[in-house]
Amino acid sequence: MTKINKAAVVGGGVIGGGWAARLVLAGVDVAVADPDPDAKRKLDAIMANAERAMARLWPGQTLGNIGSLTYEDSIGAAVAGADLVQESAPERLDLKKRIHQEIGEAASDDVVIGSSTSGLLPSEIQADMPHADRMMVAHPYNPVYLLPVVEIVGGAKTSSAAIAKAMDLYTSIGMKPVHLQKEIDAFVGDRLLEAMWRESLWLIKDGIATAETIDDVVRYGLGLRYAQMGQFMTYRLGGGEAGVRHFLEQFGPSLQWPWTKLMDVPEWNDELIDMIATQSDDQAKGKSIAELEEIRDNNLVDILKALKANDWGAGALIQNPAEESVKSGNNNLPDGNVLETWSGLVDQSWTDYNGHMTEFRYLEVFSMATDRLLVWIGGGPAYVETGASWYTIETHIKHLDEVAAGKPMRVETQLVQHDDKRVHLFHHLYGVEKGNLLATGEHMLMHVDMAAGRSSVMPDAMKSVLDVIAERQADMPKPDAAGAAIGIRQK
Ligand SMILES: NC(=O)c1ccc[n+]([C@@H]2O[C@H](COP(=O)([O-])OP(=O)(O)OC[C@H]3O[C@@H](n4cnc5c(N)ncnc54)[C@H](O)[C@@H]3O)[C@@H](O)[C@H]2O)c1
Repeated sequence: MTKINKAAVVGGGVIGGGWAARLVLAGVDVAVADPDPDAKRKLDAIMANAERAMARLWPGQTLGNIGSLTYEDSIGAAVAGADLVQESAPERLDLKKRIHQEIGEAASDDVVIGSSTSGLLPSEIQADMPHADRMMVAHPYNPVYLLPVVEIVGGAKTSSAAIAKAMDLYTSIGMKPVHLQKEIDAFVGDRLLEAMWRESLWLIKDGIATAETIDDVVRYGLGLRYAQMGQFMTYRLGGGEAGVRHFLEQFGPSLQWPWTKLMDVPEWNDELIDMIATQSDDQAKGKSIAELEEIRDNNLVDILKALKANDWGAGALIQNPAEESVKSGNNNLPDGNVLETWSGLVDQSWTDYNGHMTEFRYLEVFSMATDRLLVWIGGGPAYVETGASWYTIETHIKHLDEVAAGKPMRVETQLVQHDDKRVHLFHHLYGVEKGNLLATGEHMLMHVDMAAGRSSVMPDAMKSVLDVIAERQADMPKPDAAGAAIGIRQK
């Protein structure tokens, strides 16, 4: 897969900011061009939202190789040397055409230029610009840093090579590019949304339902289905055992009934706007946009996690930053005898009713620390694919001090002993602010041949890395608690 080395984001508002956040968190260096003097403040707020969402998605993990974010005074400076240019300026054809002219003049020959437009045609935007063959619509959904789909729509001048490259580039940042075969106003997603929006407006105008009732029908019913099955798979299941043909035959005739007013739009006047805006204000119950964004993002993250657990839909695309950094990073043993195997924050979801980190999260932290050490000795995910692995066969955790949500922590790991099949590890978990020892974790690991289902001798190369660690740590005193048994001490 082609990697994006540098991206330019032209227009850094709601959508451009979301693109910048997704790209930076995927390890891409981003240059932003936006004439608004307030652009940096607004984009920083979107970045903070995205980082908060990632921390919730991968609690306790560092975000890995994140890219840089710079601001340029001109479109030309931002676009120079970029593999991907994403335009997200206001939805006006004249403005977009001017901006794409400037982008085309500064862009390199094999660039991909995507416009986030919600409905303008690529053939119109690209009509007069240089590098028109590289330009297409790449329409995302808000918030771009969490929702993966992007509709790719070429115009009359777009080359198929540019489309192919775009499919590759957007995939590389964890997205789901979908290519529309022909250009059409509003593409697919906004056409579907528009149909529902028209119906909703009629339902309010005709006094049949309020904004809240309509949203409840979506939130408590059909929306839950859409997030994981979509339109056609949902209806397939609606046919039950009788099958999809039965479903289509049964409900086809109702399309002739006067259920829908799809092509008819209610008169857009102050009265209707007031009615909808008032109902929407009532629904928000005084919550600010920032508060609602946080609620939306928390829910989206948890839905994505649920889908990931089922390896399904948008959840199947989520990239774990720790695994990505193992895949792309330098996984050699660091220098020195002090091995820092993990650092991170206490996630809000890790706390118990006392507001302190709850007991089983200590094991999660220690197991992430052990995973890091295994990567250094050559026993990471790639090694597991060869059919061998390390299994933990015994654990002893001592809880020594409390730690609250949001506090930074770090783990240092000592190799107590090893032979050609086993590793005896001792982790110290420290609070970073006070340097206090929060817990210790002692673990015995066994090298296993997974196909045979029994212990096996580790490869020489792996053993020699363990020998190096043992040699470097030879002067470290054995931890007092190592090998201690649990029990009530007699006085
Ligand atoms: N908001 C959404 O839900 C959504 C969803 C998908 C696509 N889009 C599309 O994304 C695009 C941007 O929408 P938005 O909601 O982010 O709008 P926005 O108003 O939040 O952001 C537009 C940004 O463009 C900047 N800008 C204005 N003139 C510029 C110029 N000459 N050069 C560079 N930047 C300039 C503005 O300062 C602003 O920061 C539109 O085409 C819109 O249709 C929006």
